[in-house]
Amino acid sequence: MFSESDSVNYVLSKGPVQNVFRTGEFHDWGMDLKDVAGRIKILDTTLRDGEQSPGVSISVHEKIRIASLLESAGVDVIEAGFPIASDAEKHAVSQINSVISKSEVCGLARCTGKDIEAVMGTGVKRVHLFIATSDIHMRHKLKMDRSQVIESISKSVDSVASRGVKVEFSCEDATRSNMDFLKEAFKTARDSGASVLNIPDTVGALSPTAMMHIVKEIRGATSTEISVHCHNDFGLATANTLFGIMGGATQAHVTVNGIGERAGNASLEEVVVGIESFLSSGTGMSKEKLWELSKEVSSVTGMAVQQNKAIVGENAYAHEAGIHVHGIVNEVSTYEPIDPAVVGTERRIVVGKHSGVNSIRWIMERNGIEADLETAREILREVKKIREGGTRVDEEKVVEMFQEYTKIGGN
Ligand code: KIV
Ligand code: ZN
Repeated sequence: MFSESDSVNYVLSKGPVQNVFRTGEFHDWGMDLKDVAGRIKILDTTLRDGEQSPGVSISVHEKIRIASLLESAGVDVIEAGFPIASDAEKHAVSQINSVISKSEVCGLARCTGKDIEAVMGTGVKRVHLFIATSDIHMRHKLKMDRSQVIESISKSVDSVASRGVKVEFSCEDATRSNMDFLKEAFKTARDSGASVLNIPDTVGALSPTAMMHIVKEIRGATSTEISVHCHNDFGLATANTLFGIMGGATQAHVTVNGIGERAGNASLEEVVVGIESFLSSGTGMSKEKLWELSKEVSSVTGMAVQQNKAIVGENAYAHEAGIHVHGIVNEVSTYEPIDPAVVGTERRIVVGKHSGVNSIRWIMERNGIEADLETAREILREVKKIREGGTRVDEEKVVEMFQEYTKIGGN
C-alpha cells in the first residue's frame, strides 16, 4: 500500500490507461498502484481565473461560446466570473447561467456582503467564497487578525448556504497558511454550510508531495469534499493537482491551455489526460473536444499555445526527424504515447532538414500517390534545399512538387 514515506517513488498507476495510452504500451515499472476512488470532478475557471491573465478580456458572446464548449466537453462546474468586478461581468455570469444546463455554473465572491449579493443576483446555484488565511495575506492585504477572518467565514458562508445555495469555500493562499489555523478556517466553513472545501496554491509555491500532505490533513480534519486549485509558477500545477487527487481531493480546478494569473493555472487538458492515464480514476469528459476548446480559447484570448505544450501544442503529435518518422510509419506507438484522435486532432508529418525519405512516402501514400523510392528521394532533396532557404514546406507543397516533378518528366 502507498504510504507518506514512499510517495516520491509512487509515479504511475494502472488505472483505465487504455483510454489514453495506446493499448499495451503502458509500463508501470512495478510501482505501487494508486486507487483513486470514483470519478474526479472538473471545475473549469477559464472564464474567471483564466480571464485574469494579464491583458486578457473576453466578451459576453465569447464567454457564452466557451461555456457551451466546456459544457459539451463534460466539465462538471463552470466558474463563470467574479460578478462584483463590473456590471458587464455580472451580466456575463447571469447570461451563462441561463444558457448552461448540464454543467453547474458558479460565481466567485470574497467574504463581503456586496460580493455575495452580486453573485446571488446572477441566479447561480453555487457560490465560490474565498478569504485569505496566510499570515502574509492577512497582515499585508486584509489587515485582519485570525479571529476576524474566522468570523467573516462563518457569517459569509452562512449567509449563502442558509438561502439554499451551494457553497464552495477557499482559503486563499492556503498552502502558505499555518496548518492549525487552516484546519480551523475550513472547519468553520464546513460548520457554516460549505459543502466543498477548495485548497488553492495561490502562488504555485508547493511541491507535489506537500500538496498531497495538505489534502490528507484537511480531508482528515473536515471529512468534507476536497478540491484543489494549483498555479503554475514552478511548472508544477498539473503534478500538484494529480498529487492532490492522490491525497484524496475529488475535484480539480483547471483552465483551458492553463491560462491564468502569472504563469497560469493547472491546464484542463493535462489534468484530464493525466487523471485518466496515471490514476485509477476518470473524469467522464469527452476528451476529443479538448483540441477545439484549446483553439477557441487561444483565439478569443489572443494567447498563443506554446508549440511544444503537452496534449494541445501544435507539435504534440508532429514528427520530423527521419528516425522518428521511420518508426511512426512502421508502427505509430513507437513514438506516440497518446493517440491524437483521443484529444480530437491528427498526427502531422513535418518535412524539413531532419526528414528522411519515409516522410515523403507517408505523404504520398496519404494522398493516394504512388511514388517509387528514387522519386521520393529526389523530392526529399528538393525539400531540403527549399527548407535551407528558410521557406516552410507543408504536405500540400510536397504533393505539388511531386506533380511538378512528374510533369517535367522526372518520373
Ligand atoms: O488562486 C487563488 O487563490 C484563487 C482564489 C480566488 C481561489 O484563484
Ligand atoms: Zn487562482
